[in-house]
Amino acid sequence: MMQTIDLLVERLGGLAPKVAMVLGSGLGGLVNEVENAVRISYAELPGFPASGVTGHAGEVVAGNFAGEPVLMLAGRAHYYEHGNAGAMRPVIEVLAGIGIEKLILTNAAGSVDPDMLPGSIMLIEDHINFSGSNPLFGEPSDRRFVGLTEAYDAGLRAAFEKAAEVSDTALHKGVYMWFSGPSFETPAEIRMARLMGANAVGMSTVPEVILARFCGLKVAACSVITNLAAGMTGAELSHEETKDMAPIGGGRLATVLKTMFREGLVDG
Ligand code: HPA
Repeated sequence: MMQTIDLLVERLGGLAPKVAMVLGSGLGGLVNEVENAVRISYAELPGFPASGVTGHAGEVVAGNFAGEPVLMLAGRAHYYEHGNAGAMRPVIEVLAGIGIEKLILTNAAGSVDPDMLPGSIMLIEDHINFSGSNPLFGEPSDRRFVGLTEAYDAGLRAAFEKAAEVSDTALHKGVYMWFSGPSFETPAEIRMARLMGANAVGMSTVPEVILARFCGLKVAACSVITNLAAGMTGAELSHEETKDMAPIGGGRLATVLKTMFREGLVDG
């Protein structure tokens, strides 16, 4: 761990970002908007995951984004790849170790709400962990009892809302329900999700939120809606659809993120 922290600090040179972003499907292109970018493959960073999902690279890209120093993570480990919800723990711990204070997570998700259509973006206000797993299984210290009453930081949520307003971008808000994947949900599961208060469903992010709170980072998360969830249209779901549709909402989310940094709503 210390080794990776030292390595990353050294590779970043003088750059000391306080904000990190995890780029989900559809947002990978954001790394091209980083100026004076330092690029480091996950393979060079001990403990970082080897991400095998198509549509996800595995690279740290740090530099100036919309005028602020930011560290971007292109590629994440998903629970469904191996059944290890703690796979991102070394990454989050290294981020905290180099002085990151705020973590912005993005993902692709299915909408449970017929009025929140593909191409929409949804700021996550709260989550439901429906996976039955937790990235802190096995953590021996009492620090494992992490409070999640305010998992999604109010200040960062306000920054998202302000940036959406300034950039004239529609921003939905709601509850994200974490399913383990990798199979998609059934129509019955989606009816259940709706009854339980979910607005969107997906296969990522929640473990990172828990780990980030464990490490004392402030968290914000936003979903790119790629599809209406199972049973809401006649069509079968597919990863192809996720990949094809993610750039649409991804463009909107990129606009909001750029505005957030450019307007100084989140100090890097
Ligand atoms: N379900 C789960 N994860 C997803 C979906 C979905 O409908 N769309 C994109 N990621």
